[in-house]
Amino acid sequence: MMNTAIRLTGITKRFPGVVALKNVGFEIHSGEVHCLVGENGAGKSTLIKLLAGVEQPDEGTIELFEKQVCFRSPEEALRAGVGVVYQELSNFVHLDVATNLNANDFPQKGGVIDYHGLYRRTREQLDDCGLKYIHEKSIMRELSLGTQQMVEIASLIGQKARVVILDEPTSALTEVEVEKLYELIARMKQQGVTIIYISHRLDEVLHLADTITVLKDGEHVITFPRDETTTKQMLVRFMVGRDVEFDYRTSQTVQKDVLLAVDDISSGEALKNISFSLQKGEILGIAGLEGSGRTELLETLFGWRIATAGTIRLEGKPVRIHNPIQAKKHGLAYITKDRKMLGLFLKQDVKTNVAAASEQSYKSAGLVSYQKIAANAKHYVEAMRIKCASLSQLVMNLSGGNQQKVLLSMWLSADPKILLIDEPTRGVDVGAKAEIHALLRGIAAEGKGVLMVSSELPEIMAACDRVIVMFEGRITGILDNNKQLTEERLVSLASGMTEVC
Ligand SMILES: Nc1ncnc2c1ncn2[C@@H]1O[C@H](COP(=O)(O)OP(=O)(O)OP(=O)(O)O)[C@@H](O)[C@H]1O
Ligand SMILES: [Mg+2]
Repeated sequence: MMNTAIRLTGITKRFPGVVALKNVGFEIHSGEVHCLVGENGAGKSTLIKLLAGVEQPDEGTIELFEKQVCFRSPEEALRAGVGVVYQELSNFVHLDVATNLNANDFPQKGGVIDYHGLYRRTREQLDDCGLKYIHEKSIMRELSLGTQQMVEIASLIGQKARVVILDEPTSALTEVEVEKLYELIARMKQQGVTIIYISHRLDEVLHLADTITVLKDGEHVITFPRDETTTKQMLVRFMVGRDVEFDYRTSQTVQKDVLLAVDDISSGEALKNISFSLQKGEILGIAGLEGSGRTELLETLFGWRIATAGTIRLEGKPVRIHNPIQAKKHGLAYITKDRKMLGLFLKQDVKTNVAAASEQSYKSAGLVSYQKIAANAKHYVEAMRIKCASLSQLVMNLSGGNQQKVLLSMWLSADPKILLIDEPTRGVDVGAKAEIHALLRGIAAEGKGVLMVSSELPEIMAACDRVIVMFEGRITGILDNNKQLTEERLVSLASGMTEVC
């Protein structure tokens, strides 16, 4: 008999206007990797918040190693051995690794912090976790998101967490970082740590899980052990209640006219001699590893970064774009990958956010029409199946994936000619992913252009007509999806191996 690490019985959690969890009950075995899956808004993060003491259940009980618990705060949960790495990281970005790792327990000597001891201890902790490549004195902000995440996990291990919860840990990681994370998970498992893992990447769930639990609309659907017979399709059916088409090679919306022509632009060290064109009706992907210049390319086109050489033409006319306001005037829209920092007004409601990038179109005779704002928001909420209690719900209270959909709606409302988009479906569930791809295709079909960065190969393969592959600030290849695009080709170009295409 396996021991039970966590037993949930009859858990119900209500928020104003929604029941986030309804009478949920299941068990998590000690020492297993237990994956939690479900559509955006299914209640996964809410469940985690209850386990971690961030919120308390309205009904039901939680047992931790056969003892009933009710955590009033995250600190209390951590003292009992439950630690979480959240969807959005929560470390002290201006401080160094050592401080972050030991924030709850600095070594002291004679009443003052013993820095020598702190750095020595940190080195040991990092080595123990197989993180030799992380320097104890690095400032968090200067590390990649993936490395910051490793530090957070190492910190939980250092605090002897017996249950480690990861809420969509890989959604912002590069492939190399994902491998590192898997190693760390295997290491924790060996040490008997119980791991709860939330992800929308079903391949990853099939790879990691011992047991899988599916939630749907706040209800428990099923908990079952993963084995060789478990398939992605099965999971999707449990999650969505229907089949979702994954592989739809691209359609015939690409026209002959060039919409955007980029000729030999460079930007400092980040971009070197970039040339390509975007046709009307085309979805052009940009692939490459983190640091390859993918995001910098979008930033330069949108005027956030200065192009130090080269020319940009829009429909044949040379343009100068020095700032985002000029970019917007030329019909460009940019959806960043960092929705919290750069995209959304979290303390505003859904309809205000959807309207935020296109205020002008709601005015008549100088007055803003709130009816128009609401009607437009309603359209997108229905089209993208945004799960919200009402159009007046604050965006900060939406689930992660639903926030992403609001951000998309905001920029689609602005009716751009060229849409620059970074990681369009990060954190979005399988069903909605397919819907967003269809929406992007719909935009292209109107004769517009989409330039899309994605670190998910399946997404690039499914959604794009052509793909630009970048490495160290240069383009190493441009592949046509219908002729030349294979996973192997893409990966080799992304790691700097050039070939003639
Ligand atoms: N503080 C809050 N106030 C109001 N509603 C909330 C709050 N927190 C969550 N909700 C609602 O509870 C439901 C479940 O949200 P939750 O964040 O648990 O979903 P999720 O399964 O993690 O989704 P995702 O995959 O998008 O991250 C959603 O409808 C969400 O809008
Ligand atoms: Mg969530």
